[in-house]
Amino acid sequence: MSGSVTVSAPAKINLSLGVGPVRRDGFHPLATVYQAVGLFDDVRVRPAPDPALGDTLTVYGDGIDVSQVPTDGTNLALRAARLLAAHHGLDECVEVHIHKRIPVAGGLAGGSTDGAAALVACDALWGLKTPREELLHLAAQLGSDVPFCVVGGTAIGSGRGELVTPVMTRGSYWWVILPASGGLSTPAVYGEFDRLTATTGADEPEISESMLSALRAGDVEWLGATLSNDLQEAAFSLRPDLAELIGLGLDGSAHGAIVTGSGPTTVYLCESRSHALEVNSVFDRPGIVVEAPVHGARVVAR
Ligand code: C5P
Repeated sequence: MSGSVTVSAPAKINLSLGVGPVRRDGFHPLATVYQAVGLFDDVRVRPAPDPALGDTLTVYGDGIDVSQVPTDGTNLALRAARLLAAHHGLDECVEVHIHKRIPVAGGLAGGSTDGAAALVACDALWGLKTPREELLHLAAQLGSDVPFCVVGGTAIGSGRGELVTPVMTRGSYWWVILPASGGLSTPAVYGEFDRLTATTGADEPEISESMLSALRAGDVEWLGATLSNDLQEAAFSLRPDLAELIGLGLDGSAHGAIVTGSGPTTVYLCESRSHALEVNSVFDRPGIVVEAPVHGARVVAR
């Protein structure tokens, strides 16, 4: 086998994130609406030049800090390659290169989408044509967000987030994605959620019908009014500066603003590119203007 395969892998945001009480396996039941946004990592795989050295990984940070990205076998992209090889009884080794634009530990599924991309890329490199359902099953073993990163678009996530059902939407949406320095650990934010809900208890999460109707209608203002995130209070508790940013974005005419996933990235819903540029101008350190929804992990070069 020779050549290389490059896969484009989108960041995700959560338009809503309902979180229930912690399960016995340590995960929380989720009812979430994911959306893939136009901010991409590129993941390139090629056969390892020296299989005796095993898999290798290099990462280039395109304007972002990648010092916290592991380059050993714990990286989700390498775990994905190993998982797919084992699933098919192969002993191929790969050289993976990630061109990273998605901020690390930001609540944007950057690591998860690299895992999704590596699954899709190795599947193409090795000519496997793994059936979609099998690929999604493998993706779920890598992480809760990984199946959505394969599917892309806009979708409901249930279970611990790994069960994905596409949602009908009309038109496109513009977002300002505002990364925050420092990153937040996903387990730490869920831990803070547990602490904050210890006395009151968390309700079983549900998807808002109003949000689904707004998406079907392509009504940006309505969608903005339905954005919600049960982890937001926990993220604010660990990072009080995020609440101020959201206030600033709403005062700056965003139709809605929210912490995405476990944060600390905040996102601002706008009706057009020019509106997004206007909202973006209110921040000291500007964010990234993107259109959504976009495709899931897909081959762009081979
Ligand atoms: O599935 P993933 O590896 O992305 O999850 C990272 C961590 O986030 C988990 O170890 C868990 O602490 C937390 N988590 C959770 N409930 C979920 C998803 C993630 O508690 N539904």
